[in-house]
Amino acid sequence: MAGNRTFTMIKPDAVQDNHIGAITQMMEEGGFRIVAMKKTRLTPERAGDFYAVHKERPFYNDLVSYMSKGPIVAMILEKDNAVEDFRKLIGATNPAQAEEGTIRKRFAKSIESNAVHGSDSDENAKIEGDFFFGSDEQF
Ligand code: TYD
Repeated sequence: MAGNRTFTMIKPDAVQDNHIGAITQMMEEGGFRIVAMKKTRLTPERAGDFYAVHKERPFYNDLVSYMSKGPIVAMILEKDNAVEDFRKLIGATNPAQAEEGTIRKRFAKSIESNAVHGSDSDENAKIEGDFFFGSDEQF
């Protein structure tokens, strides 16, 4: 059975450009309930840990410095079939390929500065949510 939670971050550019409210509204209107929410800033070391799976990729160093350049908003979201439905709501990694009506189509500036993160599996949703939130912060 598909899990009912996913993890997301609003990335530094979208936070800096004042899009927290508009992006959160798209999430809620898409049927997601906010289980946990925090504005915080990743150190380069924490960003490196979060994206460790991409360590060998050519974009890793740029991604780590981008994700630690300013505050982000971390959230756990709940909905039936959360991981898959949220990937649909955010759209393709590269905004040039993102469909109309998706968060990345509206707010992403480039493949790196692509407005939001979304977990790619139920297992990673749990790991990523627990990376930011204790069990006493998830309601
Ligand atoms: P990935 O997990 O492939 O995409 P998604 O965020 O859609 O799950 O990549 C993680 C992040 O790495 C992506 O959101 C932006 C960055 N990235 C680049 O900067 N350049 C690239 O070529 C790719 C594939 C990703």
